[in-house]
Amino acid sequence: MRTLNLPLRDWAGMRVWVIGASSGIGAALAQEALQAGARVALSARRAERLQAVAGGHPQALVAPFDILEVDAWRERHAQICQAFGAIDLIVFCAATYRPERSWEVDPASAARTLQTNLGSVYTGLSTVLPAMLERGSGGIAIVASVAGYLGLPNASVYGPTKAALINLAELLYVDLRPRGLSVYLINPGFVQTPLTAKNDFAMPALQTPQAAARAIRRGLASGRFEIHFPRRFTLALKLLRWLPYCLRFPLISRLVHP
Ligand SMILES: NC(=O)c1ccc[n+]([C@@H]2O[C@H](COP(=O)([O-])OP(=O)(O)OC[C@H]3O[C@@H](n4cnc5c(N)ncnc54)[C@H](OP(=O)(O)O)[C@@H]3O)[C@@H](O)[C@H]2O)c1
Repeated sequence: MRTLNLPLRDWAGMRVWVIGASSGIGAALAQEALQAGARVALSARRAERLQAVAGGHPQALVAPFDILEVDAWRERHAQICQAFGAIDLIVFCAATYRPERSWEVDPASAARTLQTNLGSVYTGLSTVLPAMLERGSGGIAIVASVAGYLGLPNASVYGPTKAALINLAELLYVDLRPRGLSVYLINPGFVQTPLTAKNDFAMPALQTPQAAARAIRRGLASGRFEIHFPRRFTLALKLLRWLPYCLRFPLISRLVHP
């Protein structure tokens, strides 16, 4: 099959910016990239956590900021470009999640989740795209979720942000690939992180952040558009998504309220 994106096989010297690198998948991916020889800028709000993840690695640049602050994006981007010269790959991995049924949603909290998970990606894109388009190269990796495949109770705000990110990655691919950029959509299944520690149900096919980071790196090396894992779980959900609603809804109800 034709490779949709530039396969990212050789990480030596690659300049990577991980947004959401202070814990979970982003932290594991930043460490994986550093081990593979990349220069990695690590961003999130908690500077001390970022320092711990970077572990004093000489190729790491700790660049803390709040992704809800528009000016901070510009400042951090300028700082990283000054240190690295340019950015070859940005990974949008930051998110927030609150398990809540539809009748429990608080509008102020919903607005914050929408802005963190989705709005900040637009701010980040407007920050990095001009330089990437001028060079005619660069990679955009968006971490969405299998929660974006289907409407699932409990993910009342989180799920729609992830569905929107899947849509955004699709349109970005069509828009940017002809201009030399690569767009990777990353859809993990359940990964054991502070984010999923809020779940009070047994998570099927749960993976470690390190396994998730390895799967992401393998996916980026393959040049695939969508990187989804673990496949035994993600393929089952894809199948569920293809079912007509009259079959899909009763199945989801049975899974969610056994
Ligand atoms: N865990 C899973 O099962 C799973 C499954 C599918 C998809 N995902 C996705 O994978 C990504 C990583 O999730 P995770 O599970 O690794 O969660 P996590 O450990 O909670 O990490 C979330 C990251 O986002 C950062 N962040 C949140 N708000 C921020 C803000 N306002 N400004 C800057 N950084 C902010 C956090 O850092 P600070 O708090 O230090 O700011 C942290 O580094 C998310 O996009 C998530 O939706 C996770």
